[in-house]
Amino acid sequence: MNLNPNPTRPAEPADWSFKPRLNQLLHSLRIDVAFERGAGNHLYYRDAEGRDVAVLDLVGGYGSLLFGHAHPALVAEAVKALQTGRPTHAQGSRREHAARLARDLSRRAGGDYCVLFGNSGAEAVEAAMKHAMLETGGRTFIALERAFHGKTLGAVQLTANPRFREEYGLSGLKVVRLAANDLEALEAAFASVTDLAGFIFEPILGEGGVRAVEPEFARRAAELCVARDVPLIADECQTGMGRTGVFLACETLGIRPDYVLLSKSLGGGLAKISATLIRRERYQTEFDLQHTSTYAEDDYSCDIALKALELLDAAMLETCRERGEKLLAGLRQLAGKYPTVIADVRGRGLMIGVEFRRRERSSSFLLRFLTTQEDLVYVIMGYLLNVHQVRVAPTLSDKFTLRLEPSALIEDAHIAQFLRALEEACVLLRQEDALRLTAFLNLGPVAPGATTRLVRNDAQFTAFNEPRLRERQARPAGVKVGWLCHLVDSDDFLSLEPAFARMNAPERERFLEHNVPRLAPVVMSAVEVRSLAGDAVRFFPILLPVTSRWMKRQLEARELGLPQALVQQGVDLARSLDCQLVSLGQYTSIVTLNGTQVAPRGMGVTSGNSYAIALAVQAIERAQAETGLRPEESVLVIVGAGGNIGRTCAELLAPRYRRTVLVGSARPGARLRLQEFVKHLPNTTAATDPAALRAGDVVLVAINAVDAPLREECFKPGALVCDLSVPSALPGSAAASRDLFVIKGGIAALPYGEDLEFVGFPLPRGQAYGCMAEAMLLGYAGVRDGTFAGNLSREHVLEVTRLAEAHGFSLADYKRACVFGSQTKEAAYAGIH
Ligand code: F0G
Repeated sequence: MNLNPNPTRPAEPADWSFKPRLNQLLHSLRIDVAFERGAGNHLYYRDAEGRDVAVLDLVGGYGSLLFGHAHPALVAEAVKALQTGRPTHAQGSRREHAARLARDLSRRAGGDYCVLFGNSGAEAVEAAMKHAMLETGGRTFIALERAFHGKTLGAVQLTANPRFREEYGLSGLKVVRLAANDLEALEAAFASVTDLAGFIFEPILGEGGVRAVEPEFARRAAELCVARDVPLIADECQTGMGRTGVFLACETLGIRPDYVLLSKSLGGGLAKISATLIRRERYQTEFDLQHTSTYAEDDYSCDIALKALELLDAAMLETCRERGEKLLAGLRQLAGKYPTVIADVRGRGLMIGVEFRRRERSSSFLLRFLTTQEDLVYVIMGYLLNVHQVRVAPTLSDKFTLRLEPSALIEDAHIAQFLRALEEACVLLRQEDALRLTAFLNLGPVAPGATTRLVRNDAQFTAFNEPRLRERQARPAGVKVGWLCHLVDSDDFLSLEPAFARMNAPERERFLEHNVPRLAPVVMSAVEVRSLAGDAVRFFPILLPVTSRWMKRQLEARELGLPQALVQQGVDLARSLDCQLVSLGQYTSIVTLNGTQVAPRGMGVTSGNSYAIALAVQAIERAQAETGLRPEESVLVIVGAGGNIGRTCAELLAPRYRRTVLVGSARPGARLRLQEFVKHLPNTTAATDPAALRAGDVVLVAINAVDAPLREECFKPGALVCDLSVPSALPGSAAASRDLFVIKGGIAALPYGEDLEFVGFPLPRGQAYGCMAEAMLLGYAGVRDGTFAGNLSREHVLEVTRLAEAHGFSLADYKRACVFGSQTKEAAYAGIH
């Protein structure tokens, strides 16, 4: 693979004074290239060897580069303006260049317009809004869903995306929004508004995903505006200036707008200029002074714009049409060849959208993950840039659509290069080959033995996830509970991501590690789980993209900062989903000291241990019944009895056995405490010598060790061993021993057998781990506090057991030493492949 590492990438963009979060994001996707220069269709950067690398630019300055980068005639015009000393600042004088430009624009727009100049698209929108309010006295605009009109305080009111707008509402201004091409909604909107100031639209919704307004709809809007005597405002900042093969896209709609807004390519890719054209008969002359802008109307920008208009002759418009058709045809052919990858190709002239299909049902976990995170097309963008030196971008409001705005100078060879590159991406997507698609994210080989230093950062992919989460929040409330989990190991990652079989285990682990600071927790498919008592909860599994091994290593190194931060992100995600309670599965409870080290954000938090203990006890009971082992004749040994889980199990189990031995730490304080504790239990003694284990017919292990210290020889042959330790206290060999009956606790059966099979944990249908089931049970019970986090006791376990009975949950099966709950890992895999 042909990677071009760019030495100008900053090491810690999060520390930047300039857009730290955005830069971190660009960095994490490896699209934070610092370009040195642009010419024509290309941007150039220097690679690690100092070579000039040309990147084909199809982002085209979001539509500002119809003439390409640094068009020689436009650069010459700019130089001329500067060299002849044309004043930028001569406000309050006769500005002939602006007047000439105004005349030219008015003529090109096919009417008699007065023109106001500004410095950006948003400023053109602001001027239009103010003027419409002035001339009509109205305070309500009708605008389109998916519209984009800029982000200044006024313009952003018209912009549809709530993420840009929500925090900035203005009380004096109302906007009625309707879907483009919905004629009924259009009529209804006009009928509903009394103080109408105008109707604003983009002939092709650009930021909204390159979606065209139909002529019939535009014409009806124009008629309604005439009937109401309000201005029809065409925002042609992006579609205008020949972009779609005609000077104004409105020409093809058969309408003559009252206001026309132009920007972007009007500045020839060099000047910052916008224009608001207002029909002379509507123009309010007092607006001349009411709306001004220091930088507007300057000779420099006007000269460049005049030159750009001169270049934009009939031949060039024809080129825009012809080039666009050529590119569109190639894309349509690709879409026909890869119908499972490309959902739609649309556009006109040199404004083209390529919509990708969401890969929610992909066999690749990573592609599903990227889909739910709405990052799929950003990764395609990173792939095309890093592997094929082609620059494309999705729009911010339609994250599955690539928007292509090439220059009119795009050549056949460029189109071919792009189509080839895109086809390779399509092949990878069709094959669900997330490995090759994301390989560019791996920052080259790591020296053997080297560990990746993990840096905690706040800039996660989730930055782009907020609207999706808000949407979910807006849904009607029911009881929702979250359950945090993570990948088991990088091997198990294969069941989620078969393509990664081509990587060896260390590479895979490294891939995951590299992604830890980047990937945020993700919500897997939610399931509604009903109780026998008639209650229901919506259960949201939240996956942290790390492995048990990684968690274990952080534990070993006593570096809990990053794991805890990840868990907190998972908790925050549960909160944003409106969960009432969150349960900490697998290592997430261990690294947060049973949930005491997370901020609950007003939710209930549980370690999930109470029901896990209850199920373990039930599993031991069943195993005893199956093997004919009678507790009243047996010796129970609890290892790790000084710990919370060990103590709680001792309280529950000791009364049933002939004799119980609690093995605890030899440290003086711990030893004394254990000796005190056994006094309250029948037939129970304390020990510190691990040799005491060999007395146990039943051994329950709940220790805190990372090196799996309990080998097969530690136990009495034939012993029933229940290992509740996380990480496991028994090495794999002991767990698989024929001479021991090793279980890791119990699995719950759900009363109505809902299928919780997600994220590749192949749990049999209708079954749940204790920590999952506890989330549901506490959800039914309405628990909203931390009662079930931190230290637990017999009472907690009994309480949850009562809840389980009341709601019809029971023990389904043993949880074997293997993580999946199936008999062996191999069998578990066999079940998935
Ligand atoms: N109107 C339209 C139709 C636009 O597409 C844009 C910007 C603006 C107004 C605002 O212009 O940024 O100069 O203030 N569109 C860019 C885009 C940002 O991604 O489509 P600005």
